[in-house]
Amino acid sequence: MDVSKQSFRNRLALGTVALASALIPAAAQNAGESGSAAENPFGRDPAAVQAGDELFHERCAVCHGQKAQGAMAANLVRTRSVRRGSQKALFSLIRQGIPGTDMPPQPDLPDERIWHVISYLRSLALPGEQPPLQGDPEAGSAVFRQAGCASCHIVNGTGGFLGPSLDSIAVKKASGRIREDVLEPDAELAPGFESVVVETLDGRRIEGVLKNEDTFHVLILTAGGEIVSLRRSELKSLAMPPRSRMPADYKTRLASEDLGNLLAFLDRQRDPFTPVVRGFSVY
Ligand code: HEC
Ligand code: HEC
Repeated sequence: MDVSKQSFRNRLALGTVALASALIPAAAQNAGESGSAAENPFGRDPAAVQAGDELFHERCAVCHGQKAQGAMAANLVRTRSVRRGSQKALFSLIRQGIPGTDMPPQPDLPDERIWHVISYLRSLALPGEQPPLQGDPEAGSAVFRQAGCASCHIVNGTGGFLGPSLDSIAVKKASGRIREDVLEPDAELAPGFESVVVETLDGRRIEGVLKNEDTFHVLILTAGGEIVSLRRSELKSLAMPPRSRMPADYKTRLASEDLGNLLAFLDRQRDPFTPVVRGFSVY
């Protein structure tokens, strides 16, 4: 780092400490360097999340609820200050409280304990901030291929596209929901990947995933990977059964160790989420 920036930082840090000494009783002082860190030094370290969980239950749950889902005070799992705001701003908010409300300051907590509670809150609020799932992702990657998942799902740029790309799945969804997607595919269908069955007036039956529809056309991606555009006027019927095209028998097909490794593999798909433009356009 360049030297002038470094010393500017040090001065800033000193300034913070000086200000703190003016405001906070001496016994309560422990504003060290990490309090002025822009980012949480603990990230999603499992031990930090655990410590934050304990602290939260000692000091915060009484107002914010057992799982931070809100009680007498705000739902912290939903709130912007936890999900999207800077972690440094969240740090100050927790340290200083919110004057004029019941949200108390925490002058006596060491910096690292405030960061722990932030790790904990973010792990609840943001799927990508959960500590890594246990299991062997490497072995899980093999299960992913052997179980046929790759024939319908892209990971790392390769795979089929009947189902959604799973590249950033662990940023979009918490591990519990991913587990449910694998074991109970019919419980909730990913938007843009709903099943469709049509019969045409000339007697064909076509099944697949509905990729697009408008007043005059429907566009279907068949299980065989073919894209079929049909005019509504040629259809005898169109049904959208509330069942996934994804096999529903992984519950019984996968040994529990394989399932654990598979889920650990999916849990590592945490590249920053880039929204995928779904569907095809009909010109
Ligand atoms: C005595 C009750 C009480 C306690 C204890 C408490 N809070 Fe709060 N907290 C509040 C109130 C009241 C607000 C104001 C916002 C609201 O309720 O809508 C608030 C707001 C917040 C916000 C901002 C929410 C937003 O909408 O942006 C955060 C973050 C927060 N609290 C974290 C904590 C943490 C972490 C602890 C424990 C170290 C804690 N609070 C302890 C009552 C409390
Ligand atoms: C025959 C194709 C097919 C196979 C094989 C398949 N899936 Fe899927 N999968 C789909 C489709 C279609 C969807 C979207 C509908 C739904 O939500 O069930 C989906 C949805 C998902 C989702 C939810 C994605 C999201 O963005 O919400 C996950 C996770 C998933 N599959 C994982 C797997 C895993 C792991 C395997 C292998 C064990 C697998 N799939 C095998 C077709 C398939």
